Amino acid sequence: MLPISPSPTPGLISFAYGLPDPDLFPVASIMAATSSVLDRFSNRALQYGSFQGLTELILAVTERLKRVEDVSLLPEQCLVTTGSTQGNDLIMRALLKPGDTVLLETPTWPAIIGILKSHSANVVPIPIDSYGLNVTALESTILTLISKGILPKLLYTIPTFHNPTGITMSLPRRLALLDIARRYDFTVVEDDAYRDISFGGPVPQTLLALDKDDRVIRLGTFSKIVAPGLRLGWLLGKSDIVAKITTIRNDSGTSPFVSYIATVYMMSGKFDEHIAQVVEAYRSKALMMLQSISSNFPLSVSWTQPSGGFFVWVTLPAHQEMSSLLKMARERGVEFLPGQVCCPESVTDTSHVRLAFSMVNLNEIEEGIERLSEVLKETL
Ligand SMILES: Cc1ncc(COP(=O)(O)O)c(C=O)c1O
Repeated sequence: MLPISPSPTPGLISFAYGLPDPDLFPVASIMAATSSVLDRFSNRALQYGSFQGLTELILAVTERLKRVEDVSLLPEQCLVTTGSTQGNDLIMRALLKPGDTVLLETPTWPAIIGILKSHSANVVPIPIDSYGLNVTALESTILTLISKGILPKLLYTIPTFHNPTGITMSLPRRLALLDIARRYDFTVVEDDAYRDISFGGPVPQTLLALDKDDRVIRLGTFSKIVAPGLRLGWLLGKSDIVAKITTIRNDSGTSPFVSYIATVYMMSGKFDEHIAQVVEAYRSKALMMLQSISSNFPLSVSWTQPSGGFFVWVTLPAHQEMSSLLKMARERGVEFLPGQVCCPESVTDTSHVRLAFSMVNLNEIEEGIERLSEVLKETL
């Protein structure tokens, strides 16, 4: 329905892609860190590294976790990845056999659907509502699966500032999910790509921190807070699972050079300052989008109020002809991501669109929402 990578069309305002704003990339800091790495650590930075990842980066990630979230992890509980996309792929490769059942929070990050397909997983969707994963639906789905002799192997969720809805799973839901995972014995994959982009309200503890019996694997990434071109992330969990995932790697590990650059940047003192700036920029964008939507969208439309992340999820009246809506929108110079792209094949979605406010500037947000509102007013 949409190309996977954005191709800038002059005049088109795109809310379709959850890309970070390139104006926020910390170019000067990365340049300084790169030069320092080549000056001080070139022998190790330009050499092959370990499969688990650069020890200095693992220590920097776990130290920040302790400082920011008061969570203590051992170095052997962390694996450096070539971005969360690779982290997810490695988890699925390490834990799944073809045909294994995966419970997939739906809607979801589009790429995970392709990853699960490439591992021949049997994907079972679990809906979410405004409190996050619907744990009642989760348990009844599991009971139906068990009645057919199927035990789910794992569940994939984005509990904080969810892609595509912006919703954050409440603390009671998190505890209920962990309780269900314990009772039915499956692994929980917590994809936490957006956690640091919090607009200020309280955020519940991570599933990993709440987990009492070592069944959560949590993924983090530098993509949204620094730059996705680094292709750098991390994975946290029980040490034997981390070891298992490490041994199935066949890429000789993540780039030591990029890992050193990120480490030096993290230690420079500029990193936390940068995150604060990035968060403030995305908070202003979210606010502008929500204000523009609320002044312009027709009454038949509703939307989420994200308190972090990159996305607003819009609910239209049921059964829209989404491809003609998108065509009309593009003719008016604005585009969005149809909700169907965020759903596995077994789910039909004809009434949602995802709007990403991350890459566009404040004027574009205002103008783009006005354009989209005209289309909606004419169509709905
Ligand atoms: C939930 C989620 N996980 C992972 C990623 C990709 O992360 P990375 O760039 O680290 O591969 C994204 C990016 O859109 C995402 O939304």
